This record gives sequence, C-alpha cells and structure tokens, in this order.
Amino acid sequence: MEFFVVPDAASTGAIAAGILAAVIRSKPEAVLGLATGGSPLPVYAALAAHRLDMSGIRGFALDEYVGLPAGHPQSYAEVIRREVTERLHLDPARVSVPAGAAVDPERAAAAYDAAIAQAGGIDVQILGIGHNGHVAFNEPGSALDSRTRVEALTERTRQANARYFSSPDDVPGRCITQGLGTILEARQLLLVVSGADKADILHTALSGPVTTDCPASILQLHPHVTVVADETAAARLGSASASAETTPVTVRTGAVGV
Ligand code: F6R
Repeated sequence: MEFFVVPDAASTGAIAAGILAAVIRSKPEAVLGLATGGSPLPVYAALAAHRLDMSGIRGFALDEYVGLPAGHPQSYAEVIRREVTERLHLDPARVSVPAGAAVDPERAAAAYDAAIAQAGGIDVQILGIGHNGHVAFNEPGSALDSRTRVEALTERTRQANARYFSSPDDVPGRCITQGLGTILEARQLLLVVSGADKADILHTALSGPVTTDCPASILQLHPHVTVVADETAAARLGSASASAETTPVTVRTGAVGV
C-alpha cells in the first residue's frame, strides 16, 4: 500500500491529481472510476489545472441515488456533470452514471456492472470513505464479493448527505452502488480522505480486520492501493502523520503501522 500524508485537503487534491495525470499521460484511453461526495472535489479541481487531453478517457461513477428525478441537482449524474465532465472537458457520452431513475433499477445495476467489464475494467478507481466504513454505497454488511446492485442507505449515511439537500427527509433511502467485488477488480484504488472525523474509521479500515462490518477494509485485499490523506485524517495511522509536520508530503510504502 502506498501512502501519502499531506497537510490539508487541498494538498490531497494536488497529490491525487498528479497520480491520475501520470496515468492519463501514459494511457490516454484510461478508464477512471469517479467518486462523488466532498473528498474528491479537490482532486477534480487540481486535475483540471493539468489541462490534459481527456478526449479518450472513459469514466464510470461509483454510485447514484434511486428515486431522484432525472436532472435533480443532487443526483450524482448532475454532480458528475458539474464537477467532473464539465470541469475536465470529458465527453459526456463517455461518462456513465448508474441509472437511478430507471423503471427497473436492479436490471440497470446489472447492466452497469456489465458495461464496466465491456469497457475493459477500471484503471484507477477514486474512492472516499464514509464514517461507518462504507465505500461507494456499500454499507456495513455488504458482501466482500458483491456486484453493482440496489442497496438501502443507512440512517447515518442519509444524515451525512443531508447537507446537500434542503431537508434530511429529501435524501433518498436507496441507491445503485458498484459492489465491493466490482471495486476490487479495478487495477488501482485511489482513496482520498481528509478531516479529523475520518481518523478513526481510516485507522479501522487499514489496520483492523478485513470484515463486512467495515467495507473499506477490502482495501487490504487489493494489490495496488494508494491512500492520500491529510494529517488530521491520518492522525491514528502511526509515525507518518507525526513527520508530516516538518515534511510537507510523507510517502510510505508497505503496511500501515499501528
Ligand atoms: C460517493 C461515495 C461515498 C463517499 C463517502 C464519503 O460517490 O461513494 O462512498 O465517498 O460517503 O463522502 P465524503 O467525501 O463527502 O465525506
């Protein structure tokens, strides 16, 4: 596991964007897995500044709410359009988001899983982590080999995402999410995390047992994981966070110390 500890959230964006830019330069037709939520926003902003030719890039969002009407501003399709497709000048026809407004969301989920495989699989999957250890919308209890499917959101996740809606009751209760098994098939996982409120769960995910209780613990099963964390999120991960005070970027390769 490759590990970067940086001073703040903006720096997580700069580091992660540098990693993505290198992939895109070496493989102009790369397939990117796109997270939404707050954590990857500095990444997309920093990647835009690289002004790369993105015309060959293909993108797949991690997840989408079920039940929001098409065009709803907080649907992930709209977030991806605003924050990713437009910012990075990606061809919208090459960026897919699960069809949360489909009449048959289960069928749409299976088709989405198949579309990722048909595109040759994901080269780099950008990930955030939820306070309960979810990755994408794989809530605790999700099978480690799960595929893209319809899931219920926990109350904790709905509360965390209520900040994006005018009322907590407006947060949908269901979603389509890439499965943990689907995510594990990506060739590289790039976890971006910032904030003291993520310190405990990041520590549990990377240093605790691999268990369905903490879906993000699947990162320990993948051969190519890069974690980019700010100092506050990395506070419980051992010596790297201490040395980050004097060194702007700490790079460690190998197991995370506890
Ligand atoms: C978003 C997603 C979620 C978020 C997670 C963290 O597509 O799949 O797993 O990454 O909820 O959200 P933030 O970054 O807002 O703290």
